[in-house]
Amino acid sequence: KRSDATATVFGEEQEALVLDAWNAMKGDSASLALKFFLRIFEIAPGAKQMFPFLRDAGDAPLENHPKLKTHAVSVFVMACESATQLRNTGDVKVREAALKRLGASHVKAGVADAHFEVVKTALLDTIRDAVPDMWTPEMKAAWEEAYDHLAAAINEEMKNAA
Ligand code: HEM
Repeated sequence: KRSDATATVFGEEQEALVLDAWNAMKGDSASLALKFFLRIFEIAPGAKQMFPFLRDAGDAPLENHPKLKTHAVSVFVMACESATQLRNTGDVKVREAALKRLGASHVKAGVADAHFEVVKTALLDTIRDAVPDMWTPEMKAAWEEAYDHLAAAINEEMKNAA
């Protein structure tokens, strides 16, 4: 699913494009998390049903859910870690015990391949809107590459957990 535009070597420049954007965004992570989730549910309204804390919340406003921020920040932070791993080793491995859990929890929640694509689109849109002055095709490609490798690693764990 990775586009040819991202087929360059992932080096220091690509890592910096990911980390610089995150450093510029992270001070406002609560509103960032909310925008990220609103975009996810705009693209895929049904995805709401997968999050137990939202399923049981009725029509309560999304911003009242602390777990929403936790998940959103996890995706951003892990994409940054993925960028650093890619620059160091050319690959992303989700091997540690804490991360292995990710496979099991996403299988349990009923997350499918299509959801990873939805979250990717929402992630890129959220970054574009959060740092419009920094946003370039190169920055987009670096985030895509970091996210794609991370999603592939989680997918691998999901197969092992299934
Ligand atoms: C749970 C990260 C993609 C839905 C979690 C957890 C983390 C996480 C850290 C907490 C549980 C644990 O540590 O095992 C990520 C990352 C993703 C990703 C880094 C992408 C690179 C997705 C996608 C969906 C999704 C695509 C579906 C739209 C969920 C749900 C839970 C969960 C429903 C359980 C929440 C709960 O029970 O409170 N994820 N996730 N995640 N994730 Fe993700």
